[in-house]
Amino acid sequence: MKTLVINGSARPKGHTSQMVQLFLDTLGGEYEIIDAYRVQNIAPCTDCRYCWHKKECQIKDGMQEIYQKLEAADNLVLASPMYFHSVTGKMKILLDRFQVYWAGHVRNDMPEHPLRKGAILMVGGASSFPNQFLGGELVLKNLLSDLSAECLGQVCLPNSDHDSLGIRPDIAQQVIALAKKMKAANGE
Ligand SMILES: Cc1cc2nc3c(=O)[nH]c(=O)nc-3n(C[C@H](O)[C@H](O)[C@H](O)COP(=O)(O)O)c2cc1C
Repeated sequence: MKTLVINGSARPKGHTSQMVQLFLDTLGGEYEIIDAYRVQNIAPCTDCRYCWHKKECQIKDGMQEIYQKLEAADNLVLASPMYFHSVTGKMKILLDRFQVYWAGHVRNDMPEHPLRKGAILMVGGASSFPNQFLGGELVLKNLLSDLSAECLGQVCLPNSDHDSLGIRPDIAQQVIALAKKMKAANGE
């Protein structure tokens, strides 16, 4: 079982990374973490529309390796802090480069069935308020769908300015439960 994680956090030891680590420790198997703030050589999508006609991105940069890792993955985990009600800027730049998969709707070659399992982890510094994670949820759930990943669920940690997984064992349990669900969905 191979899992690809895209982590949008700027802080290597921040709350998002802690959630990712707990998730992976529970899930097991092989994994690769793409760190959106430290991965080199990812240019922004320019909507050149090359991928409308060919299942390929015209920009030959660090993203090519990430496409290969996605193709090989049984699971895709998207993890990000909320920055102004959405995913972080570097995360968005990277995610926009998955336009080549969205363009399957134009090329009419979208896979008929999901090819992998997906999960979402999000963190917000503010104390809990309605729709705190809605912006990120829209971005990440729709992207999972375009990447042929069946979304198994999401876990959100609010109030990270004060709280952490250590003092929110209920949320740590949700992370563990989601990882176990993914493991079971892979028949493990
Ligand atoms: C530019 C910026 C914008 C932010 N916007 C939000 C927000 O809209 N909602 C929220 O709950 N927290 C917001 N936060 C707080 C972060 O989500 C919080 O610090 C989180 O813990 C960062 O994740 P990390 O611990 O993995 O670095 C923002 C932080 C920054 C730096």
